[in-house]
Amino acid sequence: MTDRQTGLPDAGRPAEDLLAELRALTAADLPTRGGRTTAYTYDAGRPEVRAAAEGAYLAMLEVNGLDPTAFPSIVALERQVVGAVAARLGGDERTPGIFTSGGTESILLAVKAARDARPEVAEPEIVVPATAHAAFFKAGTYLKVKVVAVPVDPETFRAVPAAMAAACTERTVLVVASAPSYAHGVVDPVAAIAAAAAERGLPCHVDACVGGWLLPWLAEAGAEVPPFDLSVPGVTSLSCDLHKFGYAPKGASVLLFRDQPMRLAAYFACAQWPGYPVVNSTVQSSKGAGPLAGAWATLQALGADGYRELGRAALDATRRLVAGVGAVDGLRVLGTPDATLVAIGTEGDDPVDLWELADESRARGFFLQPQLSVDGLPASLHVTLTGVSGHGVDALLDALRESVAAVRARGPVAPPTEILALLDGLDFTTLDDATFAALLPATGLDLSPEAATRMAGVNRLLNALPPHLRDQLATRFLSALYSPYLGK
Ligand SMILES: Cc1ncc(COP(=O)(O)O)c(C=O)c1O
Repeated sequence: MTDRQTGLPDAGRPAEDLLAELRALTAADLPTRGGRTTAYTYDAGRPEVRAAAEGAYLAMLEVNGLDPTAFPSIVALERQVVGAVAARLGGDERTPGIFTSGGTESILLAVKAARDARPEVAEPEIVVPATAHAAFFKAGTYLKVKVVAVPVDPETFRAVPAAMAAACTERTVLVVASAPSYAHGVVDPVAAIAAAAAERGLPCHVDACVGGWLLPWLAEAGAEVPPFDLSVPGVTSLSCDLHKFGYAPKGASVLLFRDQPMRLAAYFACAQWPGYPVVNSTVQSSKGAGPLAGAWATLQALGADGYRELGRAALDATRRLVAGVGAVDGLRVLGTPDATLVAIGTEGDDPVDLWELADESRARGFFLQPQLSVDGLPASLHVTLTGVSGHGVDALLDALRESVAAVRARGPVAPPTEILALLDGLDFTTLDDATFAALLPATGLDLSPEAATRMAGVNRLLNALPPHLRDQLATRFLSALYSPYLGK
């Protein structure tokens, strides 16, 4: 029997039942292991490492990271995890750090620390390369800090230090570089950017969220990795996600600071309410200790040699993919990747439709993540290669070649002129949900899970829209997706 109000069963269900239901639900998800989902997931390909992480996560399931005096285990684990990351990334045992839930939270806290360290600046700004991760724009929105996005070199996709320096004003509270950028996998000239920031007395954050726990192992495997970490003069903070190339379960990132006062500026305390005195190092207050334990266990279970091997394998896979893509007529790799992230773009007079290519590749078992064109930077498909990607590179190249042929055989696709005309002048923010839902069929957006396999029309439309309309449309789509009364 079901409870009429909540839809819950009146009598609790057995765990096996629930797990079976979860297995059925996740059957429609992209695979999280095996390397064919070339974004979102990082598979170390080692069952014993996963078992260690799972066991550690479950062992700490009920521990609340809110209060380190009540649960000293979290202090011991965080010290070890932060210490390992600091030691590998140019710091030492005195380097202050914070374990956070992910790259976005690390970046939010880095921006908050920089903003709060300069309370005299009434309208603070951060200077970022145009290729910086969206998390900086999110931080800007949440923290009321203006984001000054500086164009990057259109050939190399790297930040231009002189242009970054020129964008600094008396309102600037932080300068940012990526190591590497997510979209193109290239490392910005960190040393020059940090030096220019230091000359102006400004802090410099290195976003090594995706690269921090990858680049050092690639360097050991023989890759040329430009200096990017805390050993670079002028770098004052750095973010490094362990739930990416640390291969840890999601919810794991480390934010390092060069000095203690900056970490203090990231903290929050409140003893002016009648409940328990709050002091937090992170945005979250009550939080599970599972991700911390999972990250700790993954680091310990893989060990430095494990990361070395995974790094070598990912580097080899990347070199094979880059060479193979270059040989596919109509495709090219954008820039020269420094890490194991590759942006596949088009070339020639008769470019392949990337959005159709993504759908065709997905039909052949490979998810390639669409990246829209922005401010003169071309559109591309993203591939992150991990330690297990090597097994699938030949199959991925086959899938790409076949997909290009299929897309070409179908001929060019008309631009979404009619839909653009329909959307022109619409203010999505004022539409009610029902009107928005009625618009969906015309836009090609579809709320059903099956629609996710044919996204070309949606991507083409998003790519044709100006960025503020992309954001509005995407926001309304998300809202509709989570509204069960729509799309039925
Ligand atoms: C360079 C970079 N910064 C920040 C982030 C944001 O990380 P998260 O998704 O963990 O919030 C990512 C995610 O891919 C990234 O690649």
